[in-house]
Amino acid sequence: MNLIEKLVLKEICSTYYTGEQKLPVLDNVSLRVGVGEFASVLGPSGSGKSTILKIAAGLLRPDWGQVFIDNADVTGQSRLVGYMPQQDLLFPWKTLKQNAAIPLIAAGSEKQKAYNQVEELLPVFGLSGFADYYPQQLSGGMRQRAALLRTMLIESDLMLLDEPFAALDALTRENLQDWLLKIWERFKRSVLFVTHSIDEAIYLSDRIYVISERPGKNVLEQTINLPRPREKAVVTTPIFAAYKQLLINALAGN
Ligand SMILES: Nc1ncnc2c1ncn2[C@@H]1O[C@H](COP(=O)(O)OP(=O)(O)OP(=O)(O)O)[C@@H](O)[C@H]1O
Ligand SMILES: [Mg+2]
Repeated sequence: MNLIEKLVLKEICSTYYTGEQKLPVLDNVSLRVGVGEFASVLGPSGSGKSTILKIAAGLLRPDWGQVFIDNADVTGQSRLVGYMPQQDLLFPWKTLKQNAAIPLIAAGSEKQKAYNQVEELLPVFGLSGFADYYPQQLSGGMRQRAALLRTMLIESDLMLLDEPFAALDALTRENLQDWLLKIWERFKRSVLFVTHSIDEAIYLSDRIYVISERPGKNVLEQTINLPRPREKAVVTTPIFAAYKQLLINALAGN
């Protein structure tokens, strides 16, 4: 195994058991995220994408296969990674600042120090002046950014993001994509990003894994060689269109 791998999932098989029912969800899925790399998982609804992230985060033990982080076998061990689940999980009774400070306080930071650190980062996340707002007083995009801010404050250089922009309108979503790329370049994290959107995956990623319908299998591993920093105009280029066609075909099972 190469030393520059941050995360490796090797031959993962996973089944959910509900009473008598047995639901095979992942069938021999392998993927890797290099150090500092932005990798995405693309696949139809129900193909097991969220399950992949739960296994990578150590919240679920696979029936078969291994998870390596920094070359150590951590299969089934829950650990500190920047995992952002599919639903935005801000606590409604805590303000933005209190929500975002949770990982810092959990890591032993003194409360006021944690709040100061959050306040310092608010401008970077486009949230200046909103520290004391409650989630229901924020827009959907602001809530997503606050959840991302909290994820960023987890002391881990690996981030697992599960469709963080799925519930947003197209314009907000595009703005947040650019913003996420800026943050990613600044914080130099390794990212595994789950999405349904082909355009979003191409625009953001260095590498894309296409997963088949359930039970999810590896269909395609595609490197995206587009210059960085990415600019919006790239989506109208022939090379972007060529990647898109490849991914459409892979998702259609061709
Ligand atoms: N805790 C669970 N118990 C039983 N079945 C589950 C559980 N979680 C997920 N499943 C099932 O596993 C399959 C894969 O779910 P998963 O959430 O990984 O899919 P997904 O690719 O993330 O879908 P989406 O794109 O809709 O978010 C689905 O059929 C789902 O019903
Ligand atoms: Mg999901």
